[in-house]
Amino acid sequence: MTSARNADYEAEVIPGLEALAMDELRQLPPVAPSQIRQTRAGFLRFRLTANESVLQSLRSVIAVYRIHNFAIPRPKALLGHEHFTRLLGNLRAAARRFTPPPGTMGIAAAGSHTAVMQRLRLETSQALGLQLAEDGKGELFLRLARQADGAGWEALVRTTASPLSKRDYRLVNLPGALNATVACAMTRMAQQPDGRVVLNLCSGSSTILIEHAQSKVNDTLLAIDNCPDMLSAGRQNAELAGQGQRIAHLLADATRAPLPAGSVDILYADLPFGHHIGSHEDNLALYPALMREASRLAKENAIFVVLTHEARLMARTVRASGWRLRSETTLSLSGLHPRLFVLLKNSARI
Ligand SMILES: C[S@@+](CC[C@H](N)C(=O)[O-])C[C@H]1O[C@@H](n2cnc3c(N)ncnc32)[C@H](O)[C@@H]1O
Repeated sequence: MTSARNADYEAEVIPGLEALAMDELRQLPPVAPSQIRQTRAGFLRFRLTANESVLQSLRSVIAVYRIHNFAIPRPKALLGHEHFTRLLGNLRAAARRFTPPPGTMGIAAAGSHTAVMQRLRLETSQALGLQLAEDGKGELFLRLARQADGAGWEALVRTTASPLSKRDYRLVNLPGALNATVACAMTRMAQQPDGRVVLNLCSGSSTILIEHAQSKVNDTLLAIDNCPDMLSAGRQNAELAGQGQRIAHLLADATRAPLPAGSVDILYADLPFGHHIGSHEDNLALYPALMREASRLAKENAIFVVLTHEARLMARTVRASGWRLRSETTLSLSGLHPRLFVLLKNSARI
């Protein structure tokens, strides 16, 4: 068995953002870069040679699980005394690291509704004195999966009581609010030296600028949205994140921003794409107008990172705009496939 300081982990990430998450993992000294590998869309595996508390700083992954291998032919064998005792030990060890201690738990596996899985859930929760969570996950969360070579089974125990993608600043969780790990990825795609002017058009609850503010302490941060409720949610979230003083929230139309031409270095937009907010008909007018305004506001070497589900409309709009496409990434997010466009001002050098 691997020791706590030399153990294997699986990171769950948004499909499409694996490379960015790998970069973040590589920056953790106790992870050997050569040991990080993608096993399938949205999943990375790596070995850690230090205490797993270092993983809590990760911002671009949804959650990390410690992998425990069981040489068993099927999950039913986990109910046998030897394996069950070991499984409880694994779960107790994870729970000891949670502050406060967990009150709920869940077990997920293929065939989740079988009698064996129901029994395993019941016996585990009773032995640990935890409630089974209604959402099937709870705080102490275990996934069971067959090993890739089919030889045995893996118990994957989440290393934190809630996913890392759940941020404490999300007091106000509005429909349409962006997944924080995607917001974090957008800020990594717009890397520029510190001290820049950064503008989030259609800022909603300010997720992107809050993520940006965490890594850049000298940038000037401006949020624009035309919906008072969204802007107020953004202000409250920014306050909770300790960034209330740093992010200026402006109630305005993003196609007519009250800012001078050529004044912004980095622009972000998580555009309405007619699912939770807006409609395709509105977007036919909004997207070109917004791109023109972004072009007016941008400095010579500006970068613009845009997220939208309206891929075709966006691609058409970019071609007719003063922006050049640097990269386009398709994500898989809650059953949708939005795209991330990284754009450079036409005059900018690559
Ligand atoms: C997808 S949401 C942004 C969500 C945001 N990233 C977050 O994490 O909460 C799109 C936002 O665009 C705003 N919006 C739509 N049309 C706009 C316009 N013409 N000017 C400014 N904001 C606009 C909406 O009010 C909404 O807050």
